Amino acid sequence: MQNIRVNTSKPYDVVIQRGALNDAGKYISEVTSSKRCVIITDDIVGRLYADTLGRSLTEYGIEYSTFVFPNGEASKNIHTLSDMYDHLCSFGLTRTDFVIALGGGVTGDMAGFAAGTFLRGIQYIQIPTTLLAQIDSSVGGKTAIDLTGGKNLVGVFKQPALVICDSDTLDTLTPEIFSDGMAEAVKYGMIRDNSLFELIASHDLDSIKEVIDEVVYRCIDIKRVVVENDEFDNGERMILNFGHTIGHAIEAHHNYTNYTHGQGVAAGMCYISRRFASEDVSNKLESCLNSYKLPITDDADISELLPYCSKDKKCQSENINFIVCEEIGSAQIRKCTMEEFCRLMEGKQ
Ligand code: GLY
Repeated sequence: MQNIRVNTSKPYDVVIQRGALNDAGKYISEVTSSKRCVIITDDIVGRLYADTLGRSLTEYGIEYSTFVFPNGEASKNIHTLSDMYDHLCSFGLTRTDFVIALGGGVTGDMAGFAAGTFLRGIQYIQIPTTLLAQIDSSVGGKTAIDLTGGKNLVGVFKQPALVICDSDTLDTLTPEIFSDGMAEAVKYGMIRDNSLFELIASHDLDSIKEVIDEVVYRCIDIKRVVVENDEFDNGERMILNFGHTIGHAIEAHHNYTNYTHGQGVAAGMCYISRRFASEDVSNKLESCLNSYKLPITDDADISELLPYCSKDKKCQSENINFIVCEEIGSAQIRKCTMEEFCRLMEGKQ
């Protein structure tokens, strides 16, 4: 078993262990004395893993109820959240009880937001079952729901009490969802760790599974350092957004349908690198992403994507922060006006 201790305002452990879901009750009993919880999951993940989790909770005397919502980003809204609050209420959850997020990023974000706000805050445990959720969204305490005006526009910072990553759960992911997570893994290599990038670049979508535990561990450890330095996203944490400015624009341009988040980030990293990094860095990045069947560009012209960037949360008044990796393994935060950013991205002087 590998444990990573995240020393944020409320420290917690990330347990990384194949088969950990079978022992979830044991790990959870070590961080809370409560014997009541609600499992929050979607219909697909629930069918696969809720029984295993439930058995382990029962074994440790933890009584639970399960709230299931339809899989997908379309569920991450105020209506599902409202049903979730009603469920927590009707099960009689008290301030000392907790919720468990069992699933991908949508589940973790929503369950975390419910936990951060229900009764002014109760504990929650993350059990991420996608690669993207394991290496990114389950760690660091960002929670949110979407509004019609955009993604993740309402949220709170709420650190989990525990994160349990069981890489066996990655075996049931479709290749597309697995490679979605690989985009974020490549990002970690680009922003902080050349040798992680090389490890990923020397494998492909099939062979990476042989070293996936190491990849998960190293990505989470990079995230740990960044989040410990800047828990509330006022500075260094922005480097985690490498590729996200254009990536979000691509996702929005395609109405969040044709592109997964990871696919948007992959293409987004390439757009930025082609402008701001050397040809060598840009070529290495593109070839690595190709091995994971991730896009390196988009059909839309950059001028069609740029208007979405000004709506991004990374925009502050008329300025925009964006991340550049001039070399693999090192990220810089750049700030300029939106107008200048557009000029630079369009290749104008
Ligand atoms: N997913 C980016 C962050 O946690 O800051």
